[in-house]
Amino acid sequence: MMFESPKIMMRKMRSDDTEIYHVWRNDMEVMHSSNPFLDTYDIEETKDFVNHIILGSSSSKSYIIMDKESDTPIGITSLINIDYKNRQAECIIDIGEKSYWGKGIGTEALTLLLNYAFLEMNLHRVSLRVFSFNDKAINLYKRLGFKHEGTSRQSLYRNGAWHDIIHMGILQDEWNAGSGS
Ligand SMILES: CC(C)(COP(=O)(O)OP(=O)(O)OC[C@H]1O[C@@H](n2cnc3c(N)ncnc32)[C@H](O)[C@@H]1OP(=O)(O)O)[C@@H](O)C(=O)NCCC(=O)NCCS
Repeated sequence: MMFESPKIMMRKMRSDDTEIYHVWRNDMEVMHSSNPFLDTYDIEETKDFVNHIILGSSSSKSYIIMDKESDTPIGITSLINIDYKNRQAECIIDIGEKSYWGKGIGTEALTLLLNYAFLEMNLHRVSLRVFSFNDKAINLYKRLGFKHEGTSRQSLYRNGAWHDIIHMGILQDEWNAGSGS
């Protein structure tokens, strides 16, 4: 099934996701490894942001990751900067509920997202950016078949030190050839 796998289902974001998304967005432990601009957000800012996502644009698609067993939202994954001419997009994932880390949810969510990107949208390439210290995410992306494409040296300043940003990508025929399809 396109948006469902053993542990999760994925659906579009709704305005009643604002509160939970607000919690994730203000959780420094989640955002430390994901957001290039750490900050706190007030609820009005989050409402605006969620409305922006819901109204949507042709260049992005965001999905809330739901735990099927408890029927609760646990994270968000998106295709952004969708470029229909060159058939490319960038993907992002944040599992906001930390108790769900390391249980295979990231693997399932990205598998659904990449199945959609490659087998339905017929994209040619999906790329991503990841902070060099985020070993867990890098391992996950490699396991899914993403290849290292480049490094932006010292382009993140976090906690008083410079870090690289790693660029990775996967092509449609690499995904079809893998176990993900
Ligand atoms: C990075 C992130 C998306 C990874 O998702 P995750 O669900 O924790 O990842 P997974 O569980 O699928 O894989 C992570 C580990 O769990 C293991 N795992 C996979 N399936 C498993 C299962 N069914 N049971 C137990 N462990 C499992 C994997 O082997 C993997 O171990 P490894 O890192 O040693 O290879 C998630 O931790 C997160 O959202 N972190 C905060 C934000 C962030 O960093 N986002 C990415 C920004 S680029």
